[in-house]
Amino acid sequence: MYCNNYRTGMMFLCMSLLLLFSFMESQAERLEVVGPEAPLVAVAGEDLVLPCFIKPNTSAVHMRVEWFRLDVEDSLVHLYKDHEDRDEKQAESYRGRTSLFKQELQKGNASLKLSALRVSDEGEYKCLVEEENSWYDDITVHVTVEVLGSHPVITMESYDHSGGINIVSSELQKEKEYAELQRQRVEDGNYI
Ligand SMILES: *[C@@H]1O[C@H](CO)[C@@H](O)[C@H](O)[C@H]1NC(C)=O
Ligand SMILES: *[C@@H]1O[C@H](CO)[C@@H](O)[C@H](O)[C@H]1NC(C)=O
Repeated sequence: MYCNNYRTGMMFLCMSLLLLFSFMESQAERLEVVGPEAPLVAVAGEDLVLPCFIKPNTSAVHMRVEWFRLDVEDSLVHLYKDHEDRDEKQAESYRGRTSLFKQELQKGNASLKLSALRVSDEGEYKCLVEEENSWYDDITVHVTVEVLGSHPVITMESYDHSGGINIVSSELQKEKEYAELQRQRVEDGNYI
């Protein structure tokens, strides 16, 4: 009699656990983290939003959101857990330049705002969203940083004797002008 009750009890416990696990699994299968398909291109100095959100619409307020660099070792960009931002282990170069959109977290939007873009920000970012002991998913966001004015300015200098056109970049132009100045100084005899 006791034995039967014990076995029934165990069976009930097993069934409950099975149900619980399959429920957790189905929950986990439903959720996914999504982000931009194409690389993000932005200009140095500007602010950039790196998109990352949970689909379907699920609150991430109680979850752990971790943004880190994939191509730079030990480079924690932003960490949110236990309902707050944790910057103890944040990489120095990102200090004071990152934030999440707190209102948006309720809608599962864990997008990162990165301010005053630097050339060194270019690279691959991982957005990892985790619900402790139950589920996690991540995406990779590629960021390309462009520097305005870094491309040499092409100017037309003159027609050469063969009827062609001399095209020089402004950098080259400056070098030529400097060389010419040096040459004149030597000629004038006042070169120090
Ligand atoms: C997400 O859920 C919140 C709260 O349930 C709701 O206010 C919001 O409109 C939803 N957003 C989308 C895109 O479904
Ligand atoms: C997430 O929040 C950012 C900042 O408010 C917004 O630009 C973006 O459109 C949001 N993404 C989604 C999927 O709601």
